[in-house]
Amino acid sequence: MKLDRRITNLIITGFSGTGKSLVAKAVARRLNWDFLDTDDEIVKQTGKPIAEIFRQDGEGKFRELERETIRKACQQGQTVIAIGGGAIVDPQNYELLAKTGLIVCLEAKPETIYERLFREAAYSPETEVRPLLANDNPLERIRQLKASRQSHYAKADWTIHTDGLSISEVAEEVIRASRLLRRYTPSNDKEKAQSGIDKDIACLVETATQNYPVFVGYGLLDRLGGKMKKAALSGTVTIISDENVCSLYGSKVEGILKDAGFAVNSFVVPAGEKTKNMDYAIKIYDFLVEHRTERDDIIIALGGGMVGDLAGFIAATFLRGMPWVQMPTSLVAMVDASIGGKVGVNHTEGKNLIGAFYQPNLVLAECQTLTTLPWRELISGWAEVIKHGLILDKEFFEFLETNVDRLKELEPELLTRAIARSAAIKAQVVSQDEKEREGKRTILNYGHTIAHGLEAATQYKRFLHGEAVAIGMVGAAKLSQRLGLLPSDAVERQRALLQKFGLPTSLRAKRGNLKLSLVGVTKAMELDKKVKGKAIRWVLLQDIGKVVIRSDVPHQEVLAVLQDMVEP
Ligand SMILES: NC(=O)c1ccc[n+]([C@@H]2O[C@H](COP(=O)([O-])OP(=O)(O)OC[C@H]3O[C@@H](n4cnc5c(N)ncnc54)[C@H](O)[C@@H]3O)[C@@H](O)[C@H]2O)c1
Ligand SMILES: [Zn+2]
Repeated sequence: MKLDRRITNLIITGFSGTGKSLVAKAVARRLNWDFLDTDDEIVKQTGKPIAEIFRQDGEGKFRELERETIRKACQQGQTVIAIGGGAIVDPQNYELLAKTGLIVCLEAKPETIYERLFREAAYSPETEVRPLLANDNPLERIRQLKASRQSHYAKADWTIHTDGLSISEVAEEVIRASRLLRRYTPSNDKEKAQSGIDKDIACLVETATQNYPVFVGYGLLDRLGGKMKKAALSGTVTIISDENVCSLYGSKVEGILKDAGFAVNSFVVPAGEKTKNMDYAIKIYDFLVEHRTERDDIIIALGGGMVGDLAGFIAATFLRGMPWVQMPTSLVAMVDASIGGKVGVNHTEGKNLIGAFYQPNLVLAECQTLTTLPWRELISGWAEVIKHGLILDKEFFEFLETNVDRLKELEPELLTRAIARSAAIKAQVVSQDEKEREGKRTILNYGHTIAHGLEAATQYKRFLHGEAVAIGMVGAAKLSQRLGLLPSDAVERQRALLQKFGLPTSLRAKRGNLKLSLVGVTKAMELDKKVKGKAIRWVLLQDIGKVVIRSDVPHQEVLAVLQDMVEP
């Protein structure tokens, strides 16, 4: 994606039933721009409904008319253009649209689309029957057709999840996105070439086993092939991804790599922590054997931390180690999991029990992928970002305080800065203590002692990791205060920032069937694998940006802090 192109139009794409036409009309009204719906134009021009064109002349003819209509539409300026659900699949259309407009994709779950198309009058005015959905089992047909187009929708500059939103709310979101994207002007490629420095580099990780760059940026995916070649990577690439991420970005990444001259295979696993185990590792080994993968070939981990850990474990062990690239797509993976080379899988008796330290050859974080990350996952990721400020960088913490609203809106420039800085802090720590032997890496566990206790005591069902870390950090700060280390205003500043990002900062005794026992939490904390002997090594704060490690914290103090955090 190149945002430095000349942008004169706004293009609204997405599957049928996402409200493209109505939203485009509402946006045009608010911006005082022209509105154009390519399906409507075709109907006007031919004097026939779309379904009839399909029936009488076939889909081929319709696509031809669509291409021509899009070509004409793109010649206009200041126009909000709603395009047919399948138009963006055509590479010629995409190229033309991307050249002249910002492309916003409207997303919705298949069930929502079904409801809207077949039950809700408000969404029906879009060009009558969708011929491709006329079928005995329309919901299944929606699922299939949408899945087949998903990678094309992922090429949009911005994605809006419309489930639960009204037309006017979606229109507001489109306008907000277009403002954010226009404000962002990526640094000039020519300037970069002249200075000889790759300005996409957020930091370097320097360890005894490997030195590697971490690239962070908005719209840098297109440069993946070049960066891999610069890192002296050649050979066949095997992309390992999960179903969610692959459906969004798999074919885009594959295409970029092929254009750069790499041969590409892909292996897709189901999404979720349950996949991070030896059974799936063996399936992947079988695939690599079957494809005659060699030692100089490359593994790419495309996904969140789960995929990164699993694919990295494969890279570490197959043929005694292969080159590999981390392409994190979740916030947790960008600022935490993709940096530092901890790879592994879970055992039925415990998380991450089988693994290795095995550094990647490069990390490339395309921040744009965060626009499709589910909201709760995104919020959860901010906890680790805030943690990095709290343990090592007061100025960064203040940057987060100042920009929280714009960061939550994923404003490209600020988002890139926050992720780059957070990744750099993690990189600095792991560079000093690659294998967690010298204690320096321990500071990354700020908030994690209580977090692991909470997660284990609720069978990993109630909290996302970042949510537990947020509560754990509040606990650790309160503990620091009780021990006379940290002033109360710093405790409050930390709590306030976590809350502004939408993270939990207190404990509720019960949610659903998951009752929380504080004794259970402390017991689980003591069983945590990070505890050496009996004393827990507490990572505490002396100030924002300044940690201290203490092994002499009385159990009663911890219990008192937890009790204090339970909501009345
Ligand atoms: N190696 C390390 O140092 C380290 C550090 C922290 C966490 N981890 C591991 O990372 C995992 C947690 O990472 P996570 O939170 O990324 O979980 P995850 O990989 O399970 O991703 C969370 C969900 O988001 C989806 N997703 C990811 N990117 C997306 C995108 N751009 N658009 C839409 N959906 C997307 C995934 O499919 C998944 O459903 C755990 O297994 C944890 O043990 C490892
Ligand atoms: Zn963590």
